[in-house]
Amino acid sequence: MQVIGVIGAGLMGNGIAHVAALAGYDVILSDVALDRAQAAVRTIEKNLGRGVSKGIVAADAVTPALARITVTTDSAAFAAADLVIEAATESEPIKLKIFAGLVPHLKADALLATNTSSISITRLAAATDRPERFTGLHFFNPVPLMTLVEIIPGLATSDATKAAMHAFATKIGKTAIEAADAPAFIVNRILCPMLNEAIFALGEGVGSVLDIDAGLKLGANHPMGPLTLADFVGLDTLLSIMRVMQDATGDPKYRPAPLLVKYVEAGWFGKKSGRGFYDYSGETPTPTR
Ligand code: CAA
Ligand code: NAD
Repeated sequence: MQVIGVIGAGLMGNGIAHVAALAGYDVILSDVALDRAQAAVRTIEKNLGRGVSKGIVAADAVTPALARITVTTDSAAFAAADLVIEAATESEPIKLKIFAGLVPHLKADALLATNTSSISITRLAAATDRPERFTGLHFFNPVPLMTLVEIIPGLATSDATKAAMHAFATKIGKTAIEAADAPAFIVNRILCPMLNEAIFALGEGVGSVLDIDAGLKLGANHPMGPLTLADFVGLDTLLSIMRVMQDATGDPKYRPAPLLVKYVEAGWFGKKSGRGFYDYSGETPTPTR
């Protein structure tokens, strides 16, 4: 594999493009509008610079990595790709539309992957012309710093595709685990109900935003409190994941916290929109309730 396509240039897409380009792959990055993909490249440049300051990226690797990334809005550009990773909004209709527009342009032997947090890999794969060449390839935010990827084979995924995904994960410096194609896979199945529970606790007045976050940071040694992490993941994304888990299992234990629904209804999506359980407009984030 030499050319990696990344569809969706948001929080995750820019991180996936970042690590692929740094590992020496040519990267084609797309979004619905060119300025979004261009903004993602500026974010990658900033984050590569942070990597250099932290001593985890070689200073002379930055310019060549950036030069390997091209941006587009045209699905036809993915004709050159050996592997395309879909990392667009967590919505099944959006993802299905992307695959429908993409597959006519792909090389016959190109591999396809989705970075979905929760949606059935088997169902997404079945909507393409190549379910045997399709997997879940689930990265963690922020991609340049988080070392895990989950590889999720669908029912039809071939052993050769699985092996290629393991090799790709190794080449980009990640540790892979394999998860079955169950709603939200391994990590999110456990993590997202915890974040949702923190929002229930906030809504019920069990603790303030700051006390809930301090509680889990200091009492469970989590690097970020759950409300900070929910804002960091994106409240729209977290709500979509909870709804997928609830719909797929019918189990009421996965019902989204009413306050999470309210925040998303308000357009308060967390850090990426400037406001969630914290307001990010000032020097330091301040609680919004
Ligand atoms: N590239 C990209 N982002 C970077 C970065 C780099 N090289 N270096 C730092 N960051 C980002 C952080 O996200 C954060 O953002 P801002 O400064 O813009 O506010 C900031 O930089 C933090 O910088 P620090 O230097 O303080 O970072 P750190 O080295 O102390 O560690 C962290 C930050 C690794 C993110 C740590 O806080 C952590 O582990 N948090 C928990 C993250 C987590 O749980 N992620 C999984 C979320 S769930 C998921 O991803 C799956 C899903 O499907 C929802
Ligand atoms: P995001 O909201 O930051 O970005 C999504 C991007 O997809 C946006 O830039 C949007 O314009 C773009 N997009 C929407 N429709 C598109 C289309 N038709 N073609 C191309 N681009 C399109 O979301 P995100 O956090 O980057 O999440 C992306 C995917 O990664 C989701 O499936 C999400 O569940 C998953 N994921 C998210 C996290 C996280 O912590 N945020 C972690 C792992 C996986």
